[in-house]
Amino acid sequence: MVSSIEYDLIIVGSGLAGLRAAIEAAKKNSKIRIGVVAKTQVMRSHSVSAEGGTAAALYSEEGDSIESHIYDTVKGSDFLADQDVAERLCNEMPNEIYQLEHWGMPWSRREDGKIGQRAFGGYSFPRANYAADKVGFYLMQTLYDTCQKFSNIEFLNEWFVTSIIHDGRQFCAVTAIELSSGDFYVIKGKALIVSTGGAGRIYSFSTYGFSSTPDGLDMAYRAGMALKDMEFVQFHPTGIMPSGILITEGARGEGGYLINKDGQRFMESYAASKMELAPRDIVSRSIMTEIKEGRGFKHETGADCMKLDLRHIGDEVIKEKLGGIREISIKFSGIDPANDLLDIRPVCHYMMGGIHTNIDGAAELSGVWAAGEAACNSAHGSNRLGANSTAECLVWGKITGSLATDFILQNKTAPPLPHENVVIEEKRIYDGIFRGRGEVNPYEIRQKLTDTMNEKAYVYRNEKDLTEGLKIVRELQAQTWKHVDDQAKEFNTNFSNVMELDSMFRIAEVVLLGAIKRKESRGAHARTDYPTRDDSHFLHHTLVYHDPKEPIMKTHPVTITKYKPVERKY
Ligand code: FUM
Repeated sequence: MVSSIEYDLIIVGSGLAGLRAAIEAAKKNSKIRIGVVAKTQVMRSHSVSAEGGTAAALYSEEGDSIESHIYDTVKGSDFLADQDVAERLCNEMPNEIYQLEHWGMPWSRREDGKIGQRAFGGYSFPRANYAADKVGFYLMQTLYDTCQKFSNIEFLNEWFVTSIIHDGRQFCAVTAIELSSGDFYVIKGKALIVSTGGAGRIYSFSTYGFSSTPDGLDMAYRAGMALKDMEFVQFHPTGIMPSGILITEGARGEGGYLINKDGQRFMESYAASKMELAPRDIVSRSIMTEIKEGRGFKHETGADCMKLDLRHIGDEVIKEKLGGIREISIKFSGIDPANDLLDIRPVCHYMMGGIHTNIDGAAELSGVWAAGEAACNSAHGSNRLGANSTAECLVWGKITGSLATDFILQNKTAPPLPHENVVIEEKRIYDGIFRGRGEVNPYEIRQKLTDTMNEKAYVYRNEKDLTEGLKIVRELQAQTWKHVDDQAKEFNTNFSNVMELDSMFRIAEVVLLGAIKRKESRGAHARTDYPTRDDSHFLHHTLVYHDPKEPIMKTHPVTITKYKPVERKY
């Protein structure tokens, strides 16, 4: 008999979106029981690593406007954003910034005492609200502190959620392993919010924490919900060599230059009006073009790279506003950016795609919502602007927390638990993986899988590479990797790693299938064999549904309200 626990609202994932959702739900109703379940401890959620800022147009008296934030977001998305969703994001954000302020967020300040904003890529106005270069850490600490005020929020830290259980119509429960004991549980609930973040660890060169694997996306996918727009993977221009840790766009926002081998600020050839602060897709492509044309550098590891120059910004500003990346540069590359140039290269940083939701964050199964990077509500289309991600987490954390609470209050009794589905899941996990008979080393397979994604589905793509990538991923998946050497129950990281790998295969396949099918270049998806945007055939979202034989692909319309798609120029 499987042990069971019960909440009204289950939130899987304890990053920004999950915490913001928990607070909203708890504020709205003090009686509902909220369980925040995550495989990491709260302050080790990947949201903590956000660096540069959170976007919101605050200062209309100085020339900014919400309308301009909306248009920049839609243009940055290469016109694939759902415009009603982008509007909602930008309209809600100023309130979120001030709400965070009231909860104790230590925003950086201007000389006049107002909240500090810095320039970020693709914006017409400096509107990345910042807290030095550690915005994620401070946002998380503020939200976590605020959660402590509500006695109806409980945290199940270090619990690995494995599947969503439903009755074919409505959400009933999740299954999870308590990592400290190794025990398997069913956690029953009336509503679920998936806020498990992005899946960027399917790439080996990645800014993501090692926990950012696609377990959350995969459980929604296996439960019959679509994943949307997964081909759009964001490569941030400045991952430091050789680790790939993020060097914030705030470094360029504070005046940093990108320099090629000839000492030239090469962005003048690609985006003369925005230079280093063009949207990320454009800057990353420009770096890769410079490298391809022989104007890059060789890092000591043998990899191609480019240089980021912050020396002219000065010691004082670096200390005050970019202290985090200075520390990262010194510790992980042995370089102090106040004195020397940094070696950087485009790095997997964000997924525009995720669990298909509507504008309210509702997924396709009744009782399920998704928020933050795990969701694809289509605010960002094919390319997200920097600082709009933490913003999205806050806005849709709040929206989904509120709507899930309404749902719980209207649906007072949960549907009966389909026990047979829990038994099937237990067998999948324990017989299929934990006691699997595989002979191939799963860590080697994981490395090959993530290297394949880097090699075959990076900044520039083409049919041949993507098709080869898909073939390799499927061959790796077909090998006998399903086995766990360590048979201990408590804190079995070997077991967790192999479960993560199980989900990585399915999600890598979805990314590659979407990228093969989209025979155009739009936003972050740049096909050398189809170099232009093709609105007549591809102005739509991609949906992929799970089918054990072959994933099922569909399309979904883009919502266009005010802004007719035009060619993007910067
Ligand atoms: O560069 C950065 O600080 C990243 C910000 C973001 O992805 O929103």
